[in-house]
Amino acid sequence: MPEHVKVVEVGPRDGLQNEPEVVPSATKVALVNQLARAGLRHIEVSSFVSPKRIPQLADAETVLAHIDRVPGVIYSALVPNEQGMKRALAANVDQIAVFTAASETFCNNNIRCSIAESLSRFEPVIESAKAEGITVRAYISCVLGCPYEGSIAMREVVDLARKLFLLGCDEISLGDTIGVGTPLRAKAVVSACAEDVPLKHLAVHFHDTRGQALANIFACLELGIATVDSSIAGLGGCPYAKGATGNVATEDVVYMLHGLGISTGIDLERLIEVGRSISKELDRPIASRVGRAGVGYGNAAG
Ligand code: HMG
Ligand code: MG
Repeated sequence: MPEHVKVVEVGPRDGLQNEPEVVPSATKVALVNQLARAGLRHIEVSSFVSPKRIPQLADAETVLAHIDRVPGVIYSALVPNEQGMKRALAANVDQIAVFTAASETFCNNNIRCSIAESLSRFEPVIESAKAEGITVRAYISCVLGCPYEGSIAMREVVDLARKLFLLGCDEISLGDTIGVGTPLRAKAVVSACAEDVPLKHLAVHFHDTRGQALANIFACLELGIATVDSSIAGLGGCPYAKGATGNVATEDVVYMLHGLGISTGIDLERLIEVGRSISKELDRPIASRVGRAGVGYGNAAG
């Protein structure tokens, strides 16, 4: 088990991109600022993608221009192509995240190109990030299953992780996009990738669709995974789409990590308040169990 885990907060991006209504920019800015004040040091703020495809995040420039830049916090954003990279650089992001998938069909639906083409698109993007001294994260979607193709061969995931690493990505986040994974399979895919990409460059990104995310994270911690993605209040998933849910809730992950004696630097009580406040703002129940119940007698020390 690692002694410290880097929690990457993806709620403002992965969560809010799935909201049926467009959330006001001021609400997004307040959310990012509250997350930084609760101790999050890696916050994915928005996406520089086509505003026609993701209108919920069309205000990426505005949000990045208005957040407080807390020293030591990495404010990142998704970038799919060179057009997005120009926007990201102008918005002064600290880190970019490129994204592809281990499934051809998902990749085509999501970013409208093949997996191989996605890598070619990333090359100049990564090159300019390096030239500007910006770190690069890469996501691989569907590592444990695809909504269109079903099961995904593990060698596809490993091949892609290796290629992204060789292209210069500093961190590769393995995404269980539709939350179909279970602990032993999660562990297997991380172990397989770790043969080609050093474990410290790997992250896990679980959606909690089937309630397996915490168990999956625990299994991966046992391997030494020390970077975990999560979303405040479990934001994400369209409330009108049956069964769709967001990422594992940050409050639940932090509660488990602290209970395991793993430090995060996050103030859990404050984090719970952030989750309650954004859930109220969006007029929805808090998807985080810890957010609903509070810390109680649990170990809230960071
Ligand atoms: P495209 O559809 O192939 O078409 O875009 P294009 O490149 O020919 O561009 C079409 C139009 O989009 C043009 O405008 C471009 O200017 C514009 P038009 O001429 O029609 O007016 N455009 C852009 N505008 C602003 N910023 C840009 C940009 N690029 C093109 N960067 C593209 C390809 C990838 C851009 C598009 O398909 C897209 O934006 N897709 C959205 C993908 C997305 O955001 N998905 C959700 C995030 S991924 C995720 O959630 C998974 C993850 O969480 C991990 C996991 O859970 O597995 C990361
Ligand atoms: Mg995701």
